[in-house]
Amino acid sequence: MAEVTLYLRGGTVVTPEGTRRLDVAVGDGTVVALAESIDPPTGALVLDARGCLIGPGLVDLHTHLRQPGREEAETVESGARAAALGGYTAVLAMPNTEPAIDSAGVARDVLALGRTAPAEVAVAGAITVGRAGRALAPLGELAELGVRIFTDDGAGVQDGALMRRALDYAKGIGVTLAQHCEDENLAAGGAMHEGGWSSRLGLPGIPAAAEESMVARDIQLVRLTGAPVHFLHLSTAGSVELVRLAKAEGLPVTAEAAPHHMLLTHAEVEGYDPVFKVNPPLRAETDVAAVIAGLCDGTIDAVATDHAPHAPEAKDVPFDQAPPGMLGLQTALPLAWQVLSPTLRPERIFALMSAQPAAIAGLTLSDARRAGHSAHGGPVEVGAAANLCVFDPLASTVVEVARLASRSRNTPFAGRTFTGAVRHTILRGEPVVIDAVAQR
Ligand code: DOR
Repeated sequence: MAEVTLYLRGGTVVTPEGTRRLDVAVGDGTVVALAESIDPPTGALVLDARGCLIGPGLVDLHTHLRQPGREEAETVESGARAAALGGYTAVLAMPNTEPAIDSAGVARDVLALGRTAPAEVAVAGAITVGRAGRALAPLGELAELGVRIFTDDGAGVQDGALMRRALDYAKGIGVTLAQHCEDENLAAGGAMHEGGWSSRLGLPGIPAAAEESMVARDIQLVRLTGAPVHFLHLSTAGSVELVRLAKAEGLPVTAEAAPHHMLLTHAEVEGYDPVFKVNPPLRAETDVAAVIAGLCDGTIDAVATDHAPHAPEAKDVPFDQAPPGMLGLQTALPLAWQVLSPTLRPERIFALMSAQPAAIAGLTLSDARRAGHSAHGGPVEVGAAANLCVFDPLASTVVEVARLASRSRNTPFAGRTFTGAVRHTILRGEPVVIDAVAQR
C-alpha cells in the first residue's frame, strides 16, 4: 500500500449507488483506503471533511480558457484555478482561441500549459479549419494526440453536407463531434431570446427555432451516419424534446445544459446589463423548466458551465454590441445544487457533473491514459485516481467578485448567495484547494 500523505476525515463519500460515511486516505495520487475510521499516519495532511460530501472531482465539458490569443480575459492557469475553486478537477478547453485549436501544434501548446495547472486540461479540437465552416480540420492528427471531442463552438457547422462528412470521418476514427446548434441566418443580428422581452426592450431576437432547427438536422445526420453527436448548451424546450425523442429511438446522442439556463430567464435583460448576454441566450420560463426536467429525467447528460470570460473593457459596451458569455466555473456546483437537489439525490448530481461528462470527454479510466491524462469521474474507490471534490451542502457560497480566480469579472451572480460550498479540491492526490482557498 502506498504511503498515506493525505487524509480526509469525517466526510460522506458519494458513490454511484448512494452515500456512505467514510474517511478517505490518499497516497501516491490514488485512493488507498476507505473506512469508517482510520488512524491517519503521522506526517499525513489531515483535512476536515465533517458535514461534507466527498465526490469525484467535477469535469467541465465546456470551458473557454482564451489561451492562446485572449490572455487578458483568461489563461489556462487562471481558468484552471477558477475550476479548482469550483470543485472541478478536469476541464475541456474549447477551441475558439486565437488561433483556433485546429492543428496539432496549438493543441500541444495548450496541453503543455495544462500540465502544471491546478486542474487537468483536456482540449477539444475544431471541426473545421479556423472554425470557418468551410474545410475539415486535421481531425486524425489531433485524435493522435488524444483529442476525443471536436467542435466549432461559438458557431455551429452551417453546411449540412460538410457536417455529414465530418461525422463520417469522426466515426471512422472513434471521436465525437459536439455541436453549437445555431442557424446563423435565423439568428442573424440577434442579441437576446426572441419573445416578449425582446419586443419590450427593442432588442433584436434570436428565435428558439435557430437552435432547434440545427438540433433536428443533426439528429437526422446521426441517423444517416451512425456517428455520435454531443449537443452543447441546450437552451430551449423544443431542443430538449428533440433529444429526448432521439434517445428513445436509441440514437447515439448526448447533451449538456449550462447552469445559467437552469436559473435565469430573458427577463434578466430588462436593465440592458451585458453581463446577461450569452449565446444561446437566456430563454423563457418554460424553457428553463424544460432544461431542468431534461436534467432530472436523463435526457440531458451533463451540467456544463460554458465558462466564457470576457475582459471588462470588452463587456462594458451597449448590450447589442457586447460579446456573449458569462463566467461559470466557480459558481456551477452551488447553483446546480440549489436547482437540482430538491429532486435529485447527491449521486445523481455528481453523475451529471462528473461521471457522465468524464465519459463524454474520454476522461474515464479506460480512455484517459491514452491521452496522457489522469482518470476523472470516479467512482471514489480504493485504487482510483484521487481526483476529488469535497462539498459542504449546508454551507453558503456568497459570490464575491474579488474572490473570482478568473482574469475576467463577468459573472451574473455577483452578490448572490447559494446554498452549498466547495471546501477542498484534490487533484491527483494533491490538495489544490483547502478550505475554499487555492493552494497554487
Ligand atoms: O456565450 C457564449 N460565449 N457562447 C458561445 O457560444 C461562445 C462563448 C464565448 O466564447 O465567449
